[in-house]
Amino acid sequence: MNLGNRQLISVNNTRIDGCMGKNMGEEIDISKIRNTLRQALDEKRFTHTIAVCDASVMLAEKFGADKEKAYLAALLHDCARGLDTGHQLMYCAKNNIELDDYMKNDINPVHALISADMAKQQFGINDKEILDAIYRHAVGCADMTLLDKIIFVADMIEPNRKGKDADKARKAAAQNLDKAIFPAMRMKAYYLQGKPMHPDSIKMLRRISKWKALK
Ligand SMILES: [Fe+2]
Ligand SMILES: [Fe+2]
Repeated sequence: MNLGNRQLISVNNTRIDGCMGKNMGEEIDISKIRNTLRQALDEKRFTHTIAVCDASVMLAEKFGADKEKAYLAALLHDCARGLDTGHQLMYCAKNNIELDDYMKNDINPVHALISADMAKQQFGINDKEILDAIYRHAVGCADMTLLDKIIFVADMIEPNRKGKDADKARKAAAQNLDKAIFPAMRMKAYYLQGKPMHPDSIKMLRRISKWKALK
């Protein structure tokens, strides 16, 4: 796994620290990323980010995914949230990020595309699984990988998330990630106030419903 060329310094979170050595060791500077994010994001968003890291590592442990990848994907999943709408659109134009028709009319999920791009360009992440999980965390996609699902769900079950669907997603995630996707998706779609979800979200829910029906 190529995660860049920088030296790992250290990570404050001891649980994460304990799982750093396996396959990223000298390759990525987690402290530097965290410090950059602390500057770039407001306090609430930074607190959310760190909480998503913890939730993602917990889910990775539970469901047998790579904990380092889960941590990095979570750490960077919202790294573009510090940009306002105008800067997000400028970033997309400058970096050839194509928006589909849906996203041309709804800026909210665009931060996931930009975050994936920034993870690569600015933070030196080259691992496709990590970049995909960041890219897909807002609306999902038809073929969600285990890592995609972990980030998607962790985003909604971290302890700062409150409400009925957060509780449902937390309860479901203790058993079955697919089951947790449904309340997690409802939460991600709150802001739509009944407007249709992104077509990729609909495909994701259909696919997971089919799997559930087969089990
Ligand atoms: Fe996000
Ligand atoms: Fe998030």
